[in-house]
Amino acid sequence: MIAIDAARLHRRLDRLSRFGALPGGGVTRHCWSPPHEEARAWLLEEIRGAGLTAWVDGAGNVFGGTGIDGFGGGRPAVLTGSHIDTVPEGGTLDGALGVVAGLECLETIVRTKTATRRPLAVAAWSDEEGRYGSLFGSRAFCGLLDVAKIPEMAAVDGETLVSAMRRAGFDPARIPEAKAPPGAVAAYLELHIEQGPRLEEARVDIGVVEAIVGVRRSRVVFHGQADHAGTTPMERRRDAFLGAADYALQAREHVVTRGSGASVTNIGVVYVHPGASNIVPGRAELVHEMRDPDAAVLQRLATDGAALAERVASARGLRAEVRPMSATTPAICATRVQEAIERACRALGLTSQRMYSAAGHDAQNLTAITDAGMLFVPSVGGRSHRTDETSDPHAIERGTNALLQTLLTLADA
Ligand code: HGY
Ligand code: MN
Ligand code: MN
Repeated sequence: MIAIDAARLHRRLDRLSRFGALPGGGVTRHCWSPPHEEARAWLLEEIRGAGLTAWVDGAGNVFGGTGIDGFGGGRPAVLTGSHIDTVPEGGTLDGALGVVAGLECLETIVRTKTATRRPLAVAAWSDEEGRYGSLFGSRAFCGLLDVAKIPEMAAVDGETLVSAMRRAGFDPARIPEAKAPPGAVAAYLELHIEQGPRLEEARVDIGVVEAIVGVRRSRVVFHGQADHAGTTPMERRRDAFLGAADYALQAREHVVTRGSGASVTNIGVVYVHPGASNIVPGRAELVHEMRDPDAAVLQRLATDGAALAERVASARGLRAEVRPMSATTPAICATRVQEAIERACRALGLTSQRMYSAAGHDAQNLTAITDAGMLFVPSVGGRSHRTDETSDPHAIERGTNALLQTLLTLADA
């Protein structure tokens, strides 16, 4: 049984972690940003150095292939990968692990001259974290991107996708070219850190993902009246921030008590305008996110949230606006991919358990065009989307060997 080169794997993970590295640890590497583009150039070099063919599509997705130099050739490929962009002040493994481990597996297959029935490729998907639009690169690849909306896609701070791509040397007009031809992908498998505590607490080596949550994001805006913070009598104030605060607390309570039990919610972005300590806030904006493995539950919670915003606004003499931003669809992973992962774990003497992913991933888009699945390795303390995100090095090696053996199974199916 062939096995990965652990030293090479860790060397690449360490090198990638330095693009956008923060002084106190962790990394910020937004898609299209200078550190991300340096990482992209480095990755392309590593792909070529590994004996693979390298190419980049119209959405900026990076690929490395063995027996394939694009997706138009008519030979369905087995695809692995993840993303090299990160959240702000994120960890060094979220996404990076799946790209580097996928590259390691393909290089091992090439170096050992292991023949496979199907070609294989590894992907680094653009903007998985959705600074400009959730799961952007894999949506473009899977034909799930509404190209008419590209001009309006922007980060919460207002920077547009189009300007960010152009700054990085990409032509947004070529995004639609990223759409893969029908039947181009025979199967997709992504290795990722769990980003939660379940595997570590269960002392299980590998998570076999059965389903991936949908994520809905809306901008919720409360309009009040800017006023002097000293002279305006308290009972006359129409304070937009208080409306937002009231909404945030009630929305959380609603999702926890009226959701499915797996429903979660977060408000991680808050803007108050004009934003001075001596002005009563005239406007307050929230980005409200909700997640659930069931699309119908998500829809109900979104409808409830809009009604809640109206109730809070009218109770406080404000006006509310709810603007949907993005909504990813919950996905079910292919049974045959789950079973292939479990077979690989048994062959490697690894324990595994089936679980759903409470994080969104590119794999959920790939389920729309092929048999797609994911395997997880434990996150220490369940920590992720924070600078001290980490996983045990041996757990990373176990996960990468499980990825390798599963890819070999899928490539001979
Ligand atoms: O937010 C998520 O679930 C993923 O990390 N993009
Ligand atoms: Mn993430
Ligand atoms: Mn990720």
